Amino acid sequence: MCGILGCAGVDDAASILYEGLERLEYRGYDSAGLAVANGNTLALERVAGRVHQLNIRSLPPATYGIAHTRWATHGPPTKANAHPHQPCDASVAIAHNGIIENHAELRNALETSGHTFTSDTDTEVVAHLLEDTYDGDIVASLDTVKEQLEGTYALLAIHAEEPGVVAATRYRSPLVLGLAEQGNFVASDVVAFRAYTDQVIFLEDGDVARVTRDSYDVTPATPRTIEPQRVDWKLEEATKAGFPHFMLKEIHEQPRSIEEALVGRTNLGTFDIESNDLTLPDLACFDDAVFIACGSSYNAALAASRLFQTHANIATRVELASEYEPLEATAERTLVIAVTQSGETADTLDALRKAQNSGATTLSVTNVVGSTATRQADAWVPIRAGPEISVAATKSFTGQLNVLHLLALHLGHLRRGSSQPKIHEEMEALRHVPTLLRSLLDDTTHLDQIGRWLADHERCFVLGKGQGHAVALESALKIKEISYIHAEGLAAGELKHGPLALIEDGTPVLALAPGGTLMDSMRSSMEEVAARGAHVIALTDTREAFQDSGFETVHAPGEEPSTFPYTATVMGQVIAYYAAIERGTNVDKPRNLAKSVTVE
Ligand code: G6P
Repeated sequence: MCGILGCAGVDDAASILYEGLERLEYRGYDSAGLAVANGNTLALERVAGRVHQLNIRSLPPATYGIAHTRWATHGPPTKANAHPHQPCDASVAIAHNGIIENHAELRNALETSGHTFTSDTDTEVVAHLLEDTYDGDIVASLDTVKEQLEGTYALLAIHAEEPGVVAATRYRSPLVLGLAEQGNFVASDVVAFRAYTDQVIFLEDGDVARVTRDSYDVTPATPRTIEPQRVDWKLEEATKAGFPHFMLKEIHEQPRSIEEALVGRTNLGTFDIESNDLTLPDLACFDDAVFIACGSSYNAALAASRLFQTHANIATRVELASEYEPLEATAERTLVIAVTQSGETADTLDALRKAQNSGATTLSVTNVVGSTATRQADAWVPIRAGPEISVAATKSFTGQLNVLHLLALHLGHLRRGSSQPKIHEEMEALRHVPTLLRSLLDDTTHLDQIGRWLADHERCFVLGKGQGHAVALESALKIKEISYIHAEGLAAGELKHGPLALIEDGTPVLALAPGGTLMDSMRSSMEEVAARGAHVIALTDTREAFQDSGFETVHAPGEEPSTFPYTATVMGQVIAYYAAIERGTNVDKPRNLAKSVTVE
């Protein structure tokens, strides 16, 4: 996720763009840049780092320009990879949010025809394509070029020979026009220009817009009346995009972040591994995989390890990074997968080093491109969740699970051949996860009530089976992290081996009970604790199973067993959030915890 902004006809483009970028920084903050035009030349200022490191005083006075704040997905966060990007003749500057899926083939063709690239980004192809197609009208060029692009994009472009014109288009990435007296704007989020106007036009997929000082000209992809509308919120409310906490915002971002994670990865056999020498088929040669991770990332790895076993027929081990010791005897045939949101967790990096020293091949799965984990491992894969500010992991957990799930299916496809109906079915089911999460998050009233009820208790249990066990651990971790209720995640079958002794009248038990093969045994565990007085709440995706059970029940959308871990995770996050709200804790910054633990 990145933030983009363009303005036309303003008094001081560089300062206005800078100020807008600061407000967009929640969308990405590993690098930033802006381009303004004065006369017939474009001037750029870019930095690998935060927006405040940009030196806008180096830029000439200008009335229009574009800007970008980046959360890297292709290429590390370096100055060369920071947007705006330019083609060989520097006539154009572009800013992009999204992922150009077919960038490799476009780049090959452009390089063959003589273009020289200066970055590792997927975006740069667009700048060179604009250079090739330009015929006096940057908006027309962008319209033409967009037809060659596959993937997702919100794109802004300016041309040195067209003072005052910002061209814009989008496909599955947000873009909105802002119409102000001081000039006109276009950005990935209203917050970027809300200080100047409340009059906006939301662009739709395939729309192309020409933004100038006095006009905005939108060519709609499908005929419709283009009329400005008024946003009814004030700038002060917008720092968390209108949500009271980053955690709640990040919970609600999950349909979108999973959509991003799926881009370019749902056709079996096509899954980008970032590496100098390792490819997906190379990874498919390993018979053993060891996951190393901490905290929520460990829970994601635990859930994913079963998918590697089931789909890819790879033997797995999941290790807490702080406890990891490599097995030298098997190192050569082992793929070690470090799962880490930040890519900087000291215990995980230490384990990664140990794995490398033992001779194992390593892969990092991370949300932060350019982090130590991406540089240190032999290969890496981004989860594309965008910046996660709240200490408690939410969208990074579902992103990790999703990317590892996809990887398991791709490896299974390579290792076991294409005639595996289960792999195809599961891939199809994954495409529906964003829609299911959207529908779940549409109405969270019941989950809110459960969370607030839970707040009155000092302890609780979360039960799961199979992948649900990992989700139970993650839900319990969320509850304890932010509400300080002592929560324990359990494999349901383990109840009778000890924890049952702790169940008494009124003990809250959340049971993750998906339909399908696990239902009967989950149900017996639920009966077991209910018989000892527990207040059991079933979180399930099947309506029928609990109709006359007497258990309080929350239904999640979806019927495929493979989507339940996602909906169940989100239900747990929402319950934990409202338990914390009811208890009045500091949701985004829980006591004693840190987002990135860079010490052992
Ligand atoms: C900290 C965070 C957790 C996170 C863990 C691992 O403890 O508070 O939310 O799961 O570190 O972080 P990583 O960045 O390696 O995923």
